[in-house]
Amino acid sequence: MCNSPRQNDTCPLAAVCGAACRRLFQAPDRPGLVVTPPSFSKHAPRWSVHNTKENDMKYFKRIRSDVDVKPFLNEIASVDDAWAQATGRQDKIAVQREALAIPLRGLRKSMILGRKRRDVHESRWTSGSINFPLARGFIEDVANELDADMSRAKIVCLPGGRRVYPHIDRGEYYRFRGRYHFVLKSSAGSWMKAGDEEIRMKEGELWWFDNDQMHEAFNDGDEDRIHIIFDLLPGDMRAKAAAATEKARAKLAEAA
Ligand SMILES: [Fe+2]
Repeated sequence: MCNSPRQNDTCPLAAVCGAACRRLFQAPDRPGLVVTPPSFSKHAPRWSVHNTKENDMKYFKRIRSDVDVKPFLNEIASVDDAWAQATGRQDKIAVQREALAIPLRGLRKSMILGRKRRDVHESRWTSGSINFPLARGFIEDVANELDADMSRAKIVCLPGGRRVYPHIDRGEYYRFRGRYHFVLKSSAGSWMKAGDEEIRMKEGELWWFDNDQMHEAFNDGDEDRIHIIFDLLPGDMRAKAAAATEKARAKLAEAA
């Protein structure tokens, strides 16, 4: 659905995996970025996840299961060129260069107030999100259920063999918020790692994970992996976020 033409090398661990390894590996195209082989041995063998007790996990928590994903996928398929309309994320964020995104909620530019983008708390629905009422409704529903405020959100596609490179989501915006993944399409399950924990999320599941930890994702299947990824500001952090914005406003006024 969302495969984009890119130059790939074969996996640097192909010799370890043997002839069965058909995975592609994106060579770094920016100075300073080094090729990072998978941090797990032999491409996240499924048994490594099965051996992990989900209840003991610190960095991953399952919120919902068995949600019917078909209506959400139909909604995406009904929009012409849905994946081609916004390419800023993969163009500007190095670790995300192999993923494609449909922005649903984005930073509110009028509220930057001299801050770095990663410190801006305010967000709003994108104009394009009007085409995705089911996705919008889902995020709103989860926010209400958890007594949290909606924040930035997008639908993300990671094609087969592609990865999101290890990173920590930095900035005050993330420190105040929780990060959620709703798995819409993932034939083999979505492998992710945060800190020293690995998980394989299934279609129809909603997960919180701790993006304060070093984290990465890898689509070790052949098909596109599609998630709705969104952030929520917990109710007990609202006052703190509002205070941070007022502080930025005052600083800007003082400098003027
Ligand atoms: Fe991240």
